[in-house]
Amino acid sequence: MASDQEQEPQGLAAELAASRREAQDLRSELEETNRGVLALYAELDAQAEHLRQATELKSRFLAYMSHEFRTPINSIRSLTRLLLDRVDGPLTEEQEKQVNFIQDNAAEFAEMVDDLLDLAKVEAGRVEISPAWFEMVDLFSALRGMFKPVLTNPAVNLVFEEPHGVPKLYTDDRKLSQILRNFISNALKFTPRGEVRVSVRMEGEGSVTFSVADTGIGIAPEHLRTLFEDFAQVRSPLQQRLRGTGLGLSLSKKLAELLGGSVDVQSEPGQGSVFTVTIPVQLEGAKSE
Ligand SMILES: Nc1ncnc2c1ncn2[C@@H]1O[C@H](COP(=O)(O)OP(=O)(O)O)[C@@H](O)[C@H]1O
Ligand SMILES: [Mg+2]
Repeated sequence: MASDQEQEPQGLAAELAASRREAQDLRSELEETNRGVLALYAELDAQAEHLRQATELKSRFLAYMSHEFRTPINSIRSLTRLLLDRVDGPLTEEQEKQVNFIQDNAAEFAEMVDDLLDLAKVEAGRVEISPAWFEMVDLFSALRGMFKPVLTNPAVNLVFEEPHGVPKLYTDDRKLSQILRNFISNALKFTPRGEVRVSVRMEGEGSVTFSVADTGIGIAPEHLRTLFEDFAQVRSPLQQRLRGTGLGLSLSKKLAELLGGSVDVQSEPGQGSVFTVTIPVQLEGAKSE
């Protein structure tokens, strides 16, 4: 119909105007959102800076504090050694027990302070990696020697498997040794009977995986995820009796990352745990022999 045809342009114009208004509204809404996003970004930036400062302050505090703690701890340790060596005369049986107790606690304290200092150093990016070529056999025998004096539980065997088919490594052996020491001392701590088995195998062409497997109390699945975080400890009756800082594993994780690798854990409560560290055979950026 003619009237319909006449009306159509009018209707179109109205529709156009409406959609133009709609577009206008949308645009201003978008602009507002944009401003909001920009403000959020600025806030995030400020927060990130704040966090960075807090982290740095924490690292500096930890480094300072643990450094200051070392002197008094060392003097406690040397004085207890003098007493136990009877340099200044005999001790009664009870006194000897007490002095031994002081010595054990001072040693534990020293260990915690070392962990704290190491962690602070890693976080502040002040850890130097000095790679060198070395044989697995040497690393294992050094570790075996280190743990011999602390193997006080006759119900637990510490076994180092012969490292077959593993080439020489080019990495920081002291850092690697520190990671393995943490794994092994945990394994010994949480294994009342059975064995702690240390082994190494090739992982593809360029990596090696070290495993520390124990037959101990194991770890519940809900704790596995957070285990490698600072101060993470599992609440259990055995844990209650064994002190520690919960820093060993997070330090190990950070050290492994510095060596270009990673850590992992598998565990079955009541069956035992396997902690692994995988690192490249040759540290990135390292020169050949
Ligand atoms: N081999 C293990 N078997 C059972 N639990 C373990 C084992 N290794 C570590 N854990 C758990 O992980 C926690 C964190 O370990 P770690 O960071 O070395 O701290 P710490 O030894 O000072 O408690 C331990 O407190 C323990 O609960
Ligand atoms: Mg530990």
